[in-house]
Amino acid sequence: MATNKKTLLSGVKPTGRVHIGNYFGAMRQLVELQEKYRGFVFIADYHALTTLQNAAEMRQNILDVALDYLAIGLDPEKTVVFKQSDVPEVTELAWIFNCITTTSYLQRAHAYKDAVAKGKEVSVGTFDYPMLMAADILMYDADVVPVGQDQKQHVEYARDTAEKFNRVFNAEIFKLPEPLILENVAVVPGIDGQKMSKSYNNAIPLFATKVEIEKSVMGIVTDSGADVPKNVYAIHKLFHPESNLKTLYSAHKGQYKALKEALIADMEVFIAPLRAKRKQLATDPSHILKILAEGAEKARVVASEKMKVVQETVGVSLG
Ligand code: ADP
Ligand code: TRP
Repeated sequence: MATNKKTLLSGVKPTGRVHIGNYFGAMRQLVELQEKYRGFVFIADYHALTTLQNAAEMRQNILDVALDYLAIGLDPEKTVVFKQSDVPEVTELAWIFNCITTTSYLQRAHAYKDAVAKGKEVSVGTFDYPMLMAADILMYDADVVPVGQDQKQHVEYARDTAEKFNRVFNAEIFKLPEPLILENVAVVPGIDGQKMSKSYNNAIPLFATKVEIEKSVMGIVTDSGADVPKNVYAIHKLFHPESNLKTLYSAHKGQYKALKEALIADMEVFIAPLRAKRKQLATDPSHILKILAEGAEKARVVASEKMKVVQETVGVSLG
């Protein structure tokens, strides 16, 4: 891997089927940028463990995300594709970050505040989520982190943690990463108009079958009275150049059914080849395991080098 390239890093939690919000908000950039950057893309299984506590489901979801990554075009020759838990150095680094981080600072995290506001019992893992994510990012000296808008604060936690570590130990050990957020797709709405999310039951899966596409699109909530159905349009513009779309929507003012049918057709054109590629990849699970094992090996080379420096810097290694 050429060392003059900047480093890109991102991850997705294996908590359910990847949806078009994940794809347009974050995953697509990973493929588009893989020539330009030295890429690390992983499956955030230890982050998923904060909410998913079922071994069979976890295993299945991990393999599913690996398939998704490859089906959208990540090339393991160009991007290191791996599973977070295969790099134990990351949890080790998260511990070191825990020791320089205050509880009051973590209490300001949106995800934590939301959980508390909903009266949920919050696990220590959920509370500490930003520190594990900071370790994911800082371990590989990531310059850019392509994510959706909702992850912006987490990348800020990583930046702050890098600065704090460098300051406390008076050494320039960690790089300050930048989030890479595509402004026009920062938040893809779900079929109910709220942010599309695996956990809101409002998602359109990226690898949806034709029937699922039809069902989801027909279920998109339309604001009665409006000429342009806002939610339909917001999703449609991901699949169709906006210049043509405006003409289509003005020609069919208020005709929600016709517009939804046009969206279904456009989605099917886009999704069908991805679906076929994924199906073909799924016929050889051993190939997927091999890619993850090779990715883990490459990631660990980088991580163990970094940890040596970190351990020297904090003084726990004796020479
Ligand atoms: P979810 O909220 O569906 O569980 P994740 O938290 O696994 O999604 O997010 C994976 C990536 O996809 C993150 O970078 C996140 O910012 C992005 N993402 C998730 N939902 C959306 C959305 N509705 N619009 C844009 N990006 C999104
Ligand atoms: N928290 C991210 C999400 O919910 C997943 C994630 C974990 C991640 N570690 C990361 C994303 C590091 C980018 C970089 O989507």
